[in-house]
Amino acid sequence: MAITIKNQHDIEKMRIAGRLGSEVLDFITPFVVHGVTTEQLDKLCHDYIVDVQKAVPAPLNYAPDGHTPYPKSICTSVNHQICHGVPGEKILKNGDIVNIDVTVIKDGYHGDTSRMFCVGDASIQAKRLCDITYDAMWLGIDKVKPGATLGDIGFAIQTFAEKSGYSVVREFCGHGIGKKFHEEPQVLHYGKPSTGLVLKAGLIFTIEPMINAGKREIKQMPDGWSIVTRDRSLSAQWEHTVLVTENGYEVLTLSAGSPAAPSFINV
Ligand code: MF3
Ligand code: CO
Ligand code: CO
Repeated sequence: MAITIKNQHDIEKMRIAGRLGSEVLDFITPFVVHGVTTEQLDKLCHDYIVDVQKAVPAPLNYAPDGHTPYPKSICTSVNHQICHGVPGEKILKNGDIVNIDVTVIKDGYHGDTSRMFCVGDASIQAKRLCDITYDAMWLGIDKVKPGATLGDIGFAIQTFAEKSGYSVVREFCGHGIGKKFHEEPQVLHYGKPSTGLVLKAGLIFTIEPMINAGKREIKQMPDGWSIVTRDRSLSAQWEHTVLVTENGYEVLTLSAGSPAAPSFINV
């Protein structure tokens, strides 16, 4: 499958899908508290997407090659879970950090975004990991413009994460997105400047770094989906869907409740 350049119609539809994805995260925010189960969060998001947004939760029954169909509508990755945490009976407790990853399909187009949430008061270390990962995502986003390369994005994320004392997960990456959930290109969160695909206006892809407080190695759990840090260190992730514009970028997954961009971003 080739890389697709989106036309004006596609871009309009991707703006809508992106905003809806972000609005699911706005909606779920007040429910991410001590005592809630990740399954309850999944049900709340599922019903909001289907009944209120009249959209489709893309993860539900998603079955890429080599995987059993994903059984839930969102991913909830808690503490040392890196990504693809499957909602279940796990009860969130004070001090947990959790990534909620939402992908909605509206009119055939996908909007993919995730945020970190602290349950009650997280430790200073856990909060720092979430903050550094957020800034790492935005440093990557800030590289996006025609003529820049995917390597520029990966390099910005990797150097910042590693100089902060953290490691970058290598096995999962950002991705092109549109009518398909996962399209080319792969957007690595590590790399070398001036290498890889040269960006062009009309490309849409996600940037979604997974940063570990400890070593970068991962382990897949027996459920066939959940990925955890091999050393059980904490892991954080943030994700936006981004359009390459004529002179830079447009983040498509923003809404009223999106956290402010870091102060180094000029808006
Ligand atoms: N939303 C994830 C991503 O950012 C993919 C989840 S696939 C699932 O690419 F099947 F686990 F939901
Ligand atoms: Co994604
Ligand atoms: Co996602």
